Amino acid sequence: MRFIRRGELVSLGNVTPDRTLLELLREDLGATGTKEGCGEGDCGACTVVVAEPQQGRLQYRAINSCIRLAHSVDGLALWTVEDLAADDGTLHPAQEAMVQCHGSQCGFCTPGFVMSLFGMYQKHVCQGGAITRELAQEELSGNLCRCTGYRPILDAAQQMAALPPARVDEAAIVRQLEEIAALRPPVPADGAYLAPTTLPELLALRANHPEAQIVAGCTDVGLWVTKMHMRFAQVLDVTRVRELQRVETYENHLAIGAAVTLTDAFDALVGERPQLKTFANRFAGLPVRNSGTLGGNIANGSPIGDSMPLLIALGAHVVLLSRRGHRDLPLEQFYTGYRKNVLEADEVVAWVKVPRPDRPHPNPLPQAGEGELQAGQAGLAPSPRLRGEGGGEGQQLLRAYKISKRYDDDISAVCLVISAHIRDGIVERIAIGAGGVAATPVRALQAEAALRGQPWTAEAAQRAAAALRSEFQPITDMRASASYRCEVLGNLMQRFWLESQGVQHINLESFRLEEAVAP
Ligand code: FES
Ligand code: FES
Repeated sequence: MRFIRRGELVSLGNVTPDRTLLELLREDLGATGTKEGCGEGDCGACTVVVAEPQQGRLQYRAINSCIRLAHSVDGLALWTVEDLAADDGTLHPAQEAMVQCHGSQCGFCTPGFVMSLFGMYQKHVCQGGAITRELAQEELSGNLCRCTGYRPILDAAQQMAALPPARVDEAAIVRQLEEIAALRPPVPADGAYLAPTTLPELLALRANHPEAQIVAGCTDVGLWVTKMHMRFAQVLDVTRVRELQRVETYENHLAIGAAVTLTDAFDALVGERPQLKTFANRFAGLPVRNSGTLGGNIANGSPIGDSMPLLIALGAHVVLLSRRGHRDLPLEQFYTGYRKNVLEADEVVAWVKVPRPDRPHPNPLPQAGEGELQAGQAGLAPSPRLRGEGGGEGQQLLRAYKISKRYDDDISAVCLVISAHIRDGIVERIAIGAGGVAATPVRALQAEAALRGQPWTAEAAQRAAAALRSEFQPITDMRASASYRCEVLGNLMQRFWLESQGVQHINLESFRLEEAVAP
């Protein structure tokens, strides 16, 4: 594997397929400035920054090295906390601002904060953009300080732009990365870390190595390595497949490739539905969203993954691909049990098709009892005009609720997403996706049935809330008790009703401490 660090080529052989980037940095390269805190993508102590060329420039991303496989940085540029200061010792603005604002405290969290700041500096300050308090909070959401020293760190984020600038020689790094790419040998048919760059290559490797562990960002599989000590003889990484790295916009739907990061996928979704911004920002922390992919989240199928309830409520379809052909099915039909799905041994998740708002629906949401939908064409050809999520007159309501113990960087106890189309006071269309309440992400068919075709009234909302409270048999675990989960499901339906009536200040997003304590 080869990557660029400090302007130089780093070339390493015999790196096992399941070695993490953090292990490589600390144990093989002696770069111990990068720390291990949680080892599961929660704390940010292990944050490093990677970059890859995009239209002649570098695109920077802060990532968690603890759950990222080392091989995944092959062909990228990489910075650790040791790489920021100039040769004469002058601190980088990300470091100097931390010093000036007294943001530096312990040696565990500080390197991670500095690297997230460096990522922000490259992405925003170097592009002439401003770092607002809100942006700083959003982009530091994956870094925890157990002493809650956040205020001076946020100050430092805003201070960076006022300091003497530090510039990366992007043109030189882009050239180096292009040279690496040109020299990259063909993917060996039987290697330990298989990272195909084209779809035909991927499908051939999947067919020939059905036992290889697929990774698509590795933000959960990484935990299998660090927490469960699992070992993989062979890994198949889908994230370099060019055809799957794109978000394609069609007349009636977005086709999001399985290698698109959660950051980019949510950008595309929020671009069309701005009300999802808060929900998207609360999906883990930024470094996890920068590595994880929407396809990986779907294929992994965790019942507490946040993207599936949203996609189910939006009527998304998933397109599965193999050398034999493709299948196209509603996302909720993809799952067959706890972390089980319909994927055959030679298939991969290729795209997720998300209907666009205010367009004829490319895939009708299956209503209760309708059964499976007909397959489309590779997920990309628009289907004929069908019932629309947003088509026609009426009021489209979409709310995504995440209930977790922490506001940022936490896993949901319950996730509920409700999409309703009200026409002439009647609930014409309704789709409800739920997470954290069953062995798989699910659609709340009973609650939907309680509302469909009914007048949108407080009584109807109460009936739907009651249906939601009894529809699932969730478990009790460290995130919440079963009874809490049931109760909160119904409460969220009540909130949905109130919000549809214009009631304000009943959610965390609108809560302002200053207003709450004002006399
Ligand atoms: Fe905590 Fe990596 S060590 S996120
Ligand atoms: Fe490092 Fe708080 S100063 S965890």
